[in-house]
Amino acid sequence: MTDPLAPNPIQTVAILTLGCKLNQAESESMARELVAAGCRVVDRPAAADAFIINTCSVTHVADRKSRHLVRLARRLSPGAAVVLTGCYAETAGQSLRELTGADLVVDNRDKTEVVRRLLALRPPVCHDGAAFRPPAEAGRLRTRAFVKAQEGCNDVCAFCIVPFTRGRERSVPVAEVVAAVRAREAEGVQEVVITGTQLGAYGRDLGSGQGPYALIRALLAETAVPRIRFSSLQPQDINERLLALWEDPRLCRHFHLALQSGSDTTLRRMRRRYTLDRYRQALALIRSHVPEAAVTTDVMVGFPGETEGEFQETEAFCREAGFAGMHVFPYSRRPHTTANLLREHVPEPVKKERLARLLAVARESARAFRSRLVGRTASVLWEEAQPAPAGGLPVWEGLTDTYVRVFLPSGQGLRNRLTAVRVLGLTDEGVLAEPLP
Ligand code: F3S
Repeated sequence: MTDPLAPNPIQTVAILTLGCKLNQAESESMARELVAAGCRVVDRPAAADAFIINTCSVTHVADRKSRHLVRLARRLSPGAAVVLTGCYAETAGQSLRELTGADLVVDNRDKTEVVRRLLALRPPVCHDGAAFRPPAEAGRLRTRAFVKAQEGCNDVCAFCIVPFTRGRERSVPVAEVVAAVRAREAEGVQEVVITGTQLGAYGRDLGSGQGPYALIRALLAETAVPRIRFSSLQPQDINERLLALWEDPRLCRHFHLALQSGSDTTLRRMRRRYTLDRYRQALALIRSHVPEAAVTTDVMVGFPGETEGEFQETEAFCREAGFAGMHVFPYSRRPHTTANLLREHVPEPVKKERLARLLAVARESARAFRSRLVGRTASVLWEEAQPAPAGGLPVWEGLTDTYVRVFLPSGQGLRNRLTAVRVLGLTDEGVLAEPLP
């Protein structure tokens, strides 16, 4: 006889992820654990027996989205268990339970415990292990996988909450990163994205000779996954020795270097560890060693004290830099940061206006980068297809190694395949292509 007071067992778990690639890497690990325990995992809002909400706290908007996802989960499945983890769980702490009505709040330090604690609260419905297959929704896991190599940051920039939410720098030993990549390779993954809070600081805590160079060299020598993407670096990490590794075409020609501001005075107030000149040198080095590389960036507008003149320097620098993509966002006051204590906060309407101006530069710059592909060939890793419009073919979407989104009408099953295409023209978000014969 079933115990009416026993909690409902879980079968389907929705993992909803906000924030950065590090969060995505950690969500993927949780998904793997759940699948191994016999659960079905979905990664978008849908009715489910349990929700894991992996939150972000980088801006107040991220906090708001995190709270919104809890309400959404409650609406979709009123009886479901809701677990909150990630950086918002870290900043807001256990008060989040009362605020949101979540069943469990697990901070970043205990993130590897999330699945165990959820399953202790609500045991999984057992599957017939032999018959069980990972669900189609988890299939994205087999196309591109995020592998965590590092966490934490010792830099303490004036605006950034991440040193508080993620703590001091810790690196995953090379052998463990290699093993994780090999495991993904065995699953048929075509691209791994190596992630970290501060990847350039990789290995500093592991001893001499353990930096990003050693990590990438080991990955190239000891794995065979077709594409390796290194998710982000800082200008001061870029040097000729490191870039020489990009002679291997398995390394994606994509560098994400956060700029934050194109004004030296603002960079100093932000306590960034580079000058504009150093950033320019890094761009020049990348372009001389890795022709046609995509450089993408993050830029913040409205940091406290940012004058119109400083903003114009940022605008001018972004036009000059030729970024393939820019993530532009307004400064947001964060607790536990020194910038929060500054007096000269930029009024919201001014921030809004600067944001719009810089977004226009971002659109133009990305378009200029994509237009250089028109008429040329490219190799694309295909992810998913939009259903066919009446009388037409499904439209496949995939990415080049330079992170350009490619659309291709095709009746073939292209998922998780790398194929060559010719680029025909631009779309709003990417490029349109045709298959090569
Ligand atoms: Fe957000 Fe935490 Fe990543 S604040 S950006 S999820 S390190």
